[in-house]
Amino acid sequence: MLNPAIQKFLSLKGTNQKVICLTAYDYPSAKLIEESGAIDMILVGDSLGMMIQGQPDTTHVKLEHMVYHTEMVRRGAPDSFVLGDLPIHTYDTPEQTIDSAKRLLAAGADAVKLEGGTEVLPQLQALQMAEIPTVGHLGMLPQRAVIEGGYSIKGKTPQQADTLIQDCLSIRELNLLAVVLECVTPPVASQMHDIFKDTQTITIGIGSGNTCDGEISVWHDLMGAYPWFVPPFAAPKADLTTAIKQALLEYKSS
Ligand code: KIV
Repeated sequence: MLNPAIQKFLSLKGTNQKVICLTAYDYPSAKLIEESGAIDMILVGDSLGMMIQGQPDTTHVKLEHMVYHTEMVRRGAPDSFVLGDLPIHTYDTPEQTIDSAKRLLAAGADAVKLEGGTEVLPQLQALQMAEIPTVGHLGMLPQRAVIEGGYSIKGKTPQQADTLIQDCLSIRELNLLAVVLECVTPPVASQMHDIFKDTQTITIGIGSGNTCDGEISVWHDLMGAYPWFVPPFAAPKADLTTAIKQALLEYKSS
C-alpha cells in the first residue's frame, strides 16, 4: 500500500497538470518547499556532491551522506513526497540495493531512485519484490559521467536512441513510480515518454524538452545560488547569489 504522499503524486498522471519536482538537501529549503505547496516531489539528489560538498561530480557521495541529508529534508517537509537518491556503488548487486534502499527509507525517504536501465534490471526487480517504491533515471547518468569523460546529451545517434528506447521497454513492466529522463534529445525523450503512457509511471524531464509529464530542477539552479556552473537548460527564478553578496557588503558597511 503506497503512502498518501506517493498516492497524491501518482494521481497527477494523466491530468494536464505538469508534475513539478525540485531537489532539496536541508531543513530550511525543504520547509520552504512544503510551505509553498508548489512542489509535487522533493528529491534528495546526489547532486549534493557538487551543490553542498563542493566535489566535481556525484561519485564522491556516500550512503551516509544521503542518510544525513534525507533526515534533514524529512524534518523540514514531513508531509511531502521525499525521494532519496542511491549514490554510486550502493546498488551494485540486488542484495546491496535492498540494504541501501532500506537505510534511505529509515532516514525518511518515501521512495528511492537509481540510475540506469537494462543493466540494473535485477536491482529494480529486487526493489519491486521487496515492495520498495522506486524511481528510475535514464539518459545522461551523472554517476557515469566520469568514466564517460564528461556530461553529454543522449539520444543524438541512432544507437544511443535505440539503447534508450530498449531501456524504457525493459523497465516499463515494473510500473515504477516515475522515471527521470535527463539530457535526452527532445524527439527521443518524447518517444521514451510515449512508452510509459499506459502505465502509472510519471516521466520527469530535465534538459529533455517539454513532452514529459513533469519537470525537475536542482534547487541551486532554480534559485540562482550556484553561479560557478549553470547548466544550459537551467531557468533560474531568483538570484540568490547577488542577494547574498549584497547582504554581505551591507553587513560590512552597517
Ligand atoms: O541528483 C540529482 O539532483 C538528480 C537530478 C538532476 C534529477 O538526479
